[in-house]
Amino acid sequence: MNTCRWVSVLAMAAVAVMLLSSCDPKIPHEIAGREACLACHGMGGTNPYPAWHAKRAFTDDKCLKCHETNT
Ligand code: HEC
Ligand code: HEC
Repeated sequence: MNTCRWVSVLAMAAVAVMLLSSCDPKIPHEIAGREACLACHGMGGTNPYPAWHAKRAFTDDKCLKCHETNT
């Protein structure tokens, strides 16, 4: 296998580890009745999420994989 390919595989693994280990911010409110995360946290919402979320095109069903509620 050539070197460039190994470098890119390692880079992807590093990004994946980074994202998985930094999935921290807790949701300070209940989920019930607020399942439509993007209505409030989409780029046009009242509490927009970080811009990189929009780049990754996270949908409502993805949010809870990283964010948990603390209520
Ligand atoms: C009705 C609007 C609304 C909906 C729907 C909603 N949120 Fe929120 N969210 C808020 C508001 C307002 C805050 C600010 C903190 C508070 O509630 O005191 C907040 C705070 C947060 C925070 C903490 C970050 C911050 O800016 O303080 C996270 C993470 C979060 N919400 C995730 C979610 C997820 C995931 C969903 C979907 C399951 C969701 N929210 C649905 C309004 C909403
Ligand atoms: C791959 C994991 C991942 C997914 C999926 C994800 N988030 Fe996040 N989110 C994070 C991380 C890590 C941060 C904190 C780092 C940052 O601010 O860039 C964050 C930050 C936030 C914040 C700001 C929190 C603060 O304290 O300032 C909000 C609001 C938020 N996310 C909402 C959402 C919503 C809504 C969804 C679904 C549409 C979502 N996130 C999906 C990982 C994720």
